[in-house]
Amino acid sequence: MNTTRNQLIELLEGKNQEFFSGQKLSEQLGISRTAVWKHMKELEKEGYQLEAVPRKGYRISGRPEKLSESAIRWGLRTKWAGKNLYHYPVVHSTQIIGHQLAQEGASQGTVVIADEQTAGKGRMGRKWHSAKTDGIWMSMILRPPVVPQHAPQITLLTAVALAETIKSHTNLSPAIKWPNDIFLNHRKTAGILTEMQAEQDEIQYIVLGIGINVNQYLEQLPEEIQQTATSLRQETNKSWVIAPIVQEILATFEKYYEHYLNNGFEAIKQKWESFGYKIGEKVKVAANKQKYEAEILGLADDGALRVRRPDGLEENLYSAEIHW
Ligand code: BTN
Repeated sequence: MNTTRNQLIELLEGKNQEFFSGQKLSEQLGISRTAVWKHMKELEKEGYQLEAVPRKGYRISGRPEKLSESAIRWGLRTKWAGKNLYHYPVVHSTQIIGHQLAQEGASQGTVVIADEQTAGKGRMGRKWHSAKTDGIWMSMILRPPVVPQHAPQITLLTAVALAETIKSHTNLSPAIKWPNDIFLNHRKTAGILTEMQAEQDEIQYIVLGIGINVNQYLEQLPEEIQQTATSLRQETNKSWVIAPIVQEILATFEKYYEHYLNNGFEAIKQKWESFGYKIGEKVKVAANKQKYEAEILGLADDGALRVRRPDGLEENLYSAEIHW
């Protein structure tokens, strides 16, 4: 990570596409005008469109389509989420790097994002297919001051942030299948993997993994999920630039996370239920080594799934698989 480059991007972004003189940039960054110029050339290599006009200065007139640390940083409107950012072309899994960084003391909101994962991890030991440049494969480090039993609420909160971002970005109508799969037109487009390091009553850190299928066509997905998965491109018939979606996820997540820490889970619960998939419908539930039919009622106050069995018995499920 190059902090001068980050500062430069923040300054130019702050100017809202007005020109920024080389002299001013060099003063504010504490580097020579030649060094400013060199950084500008590096930004161009990353795909930024720059204008340099004598006596006026510099401005950025276009952002790169290719994912990079700078591309996410330029226009990122968060206080802490994603401010510390690592982008890699290819990794085994961003989760693994997230754990390493967290153990080395990386701060809350640190994000690891990759163009490709060769060993992407899904929930329950499943694989997560993470093809090159076609999706959002990222992990964020969190250090929430909540008891470990409440960690699932943060996953539910993340699902709300993803659903809201997908909705506002694409105009589609996402639904959240409990606990945290994002569905579009009855097919899964995104998933969340929460891994936690905790003591009995304290969370040391969470590595929050987010995977979104963005630019794949159905045929590019592994055959075994072609009947059940989808992507933003498949649903909208257009390709999407990754960085602005990532920025919106981070900003939306940060907003809800802070609200949750300050005010509790109630508002998140209501938002989740507004996106809840199959609420009021009968589904097949596999829980506590039993399989049965039940109606989904919504979320309990602590985030458990509330269901009603055919005999009228209502129960809260903390771990279950839902089918239909
Ligand atoms: C699921 O099974 O629904 C969860 C999928 C989570 C995938 C993401 S992609 C980024 C991060 N790194 C991983 O290896 N997995 C998560």
